[in-house]
Amino acid sequence: MTASGGAPTGSAVVAADAAGIAHAAEALRSGRLVAFPTETVYGLGADATNDTAVAEIYAVKGRPDFNPLIVHIPDADTAADYAKITPLGRLLMDAFWPGPLSIVLPRRADCRLSRLVSAGLDTVALRAPAHDVGQALLRASDLPVAAPSANRSGRMSPTQAGHVAASLPGPDQGGPAVILDAGACTVGLESTVVDATGDQAVILRPGGLSREDIEAALGGSYGPVADAHEIGPGGPRSPGMLARHYAPAKPLRLNAETAEDGEALLGFGPDAPGATLNLSAAGNTTEAAANLFTMLHDLDAGPAPAIAVMPIPDRGLGRAINDRLIRAARTEDDE
Ligand code: TXA
Ligand code: MG
Repeated sequence: MTASGGAPTGSAVVAADAAGIAHAAEALRSGRLVAFPTETVYGLGADATNDTAVAEIYAVKGRPDFNPLIVHIPDADTAADYAKITPLGRLLMDAFWPGPLSIVLPRRADCRLSRLVSAGLDTVALRAPAHDVGQALLRASDLPVAAPSANRSGRMSPTQAGHVAASLPGPDQGGPAVILDAGACTVGLESTVVDATGDQAVILRPGGLSREDIEAALGGSYGPVADAHEIGPGGPRSPGMLARHYAPAKPLRLNAETAEDGEALLGFGPDAPGATLNLSAAGNTTEAAANLFTMLHDLDAGPAPAIAVMPIPDRGLGRAINDRLIRAARTEDDE
């Protein structure tokens, strides 16, 4: 297997063609880590039934061990091998899989998945991704694949193969054996995580599927869709919702109208004078979501020592964008 596109010697990046996918599937089957594209972000995958391989994910990312992992499967039929499918879960799978939705369900008692993917909980988050390469890898490996975003814990999620190579160690230092390169992710934000263990859909993490779309699919059955923070203590929670997360290395200032000295301005909408980059000149939150991490990566690598972002409306995917930006802008002192 040779690295594609003139990648440096020792790089794990390979083209996501048939040979690359077969090589990656073999690496997964032998317990190695593989970075692969999904429609949301690149994932750092491991055989979800292999305790050692799953433990490697936590080690390479520097991820807290209380933060459970999403298990990727090809389709809804496979979900019943691992989880009890509640009626609400069934409805959500039928409406949105494959797609940017992770569904938290009760683990089956006889489930083959490593306990580590659930981080001590009696639930598991399942997702069927809608990316040809992700799908091909799941089918070629014939494994459930545990995969967080393929970045160091707390940092920005990768939307291109190069972001993965820059954030994680190389294959000889415990990093992924293979990084499958299929270009930029189309959604650009992680999946929406919904708790469907009961009879109310609770959004644990806003993401690439909007609350409006979920509400439309449920059509009033199962009551209103709730956000985890709207429910009192004792309700469903996502242990991974860390205060500081998704962060560039540079300081980030939110709700900026103009750039101050030393700042690059990340604009939104048609009225963005002086913006270095614009998330969506048309003011479209879906386009902005697709550009968010790519543009933050670019500004983090650019000359200005700080980044300012214009306000993003809290509708559609704007809610998930604002969730990411608020966490990214927090400093260590806020934790
Ligand atoms: O789009 C995505 O979701 C990407 C791609 C690779 O699929 N994956 C991803 O994984 O973003 P990660 O590990 O960065 O985020 C997983 C989120 C965390 O907030 C975690 O706490 C939550 O899902 N989660 C996983 N299992 C859970 C469970 N059993 N109960 C509650 N929350 C869970
Ligand atoms: Mg992540």
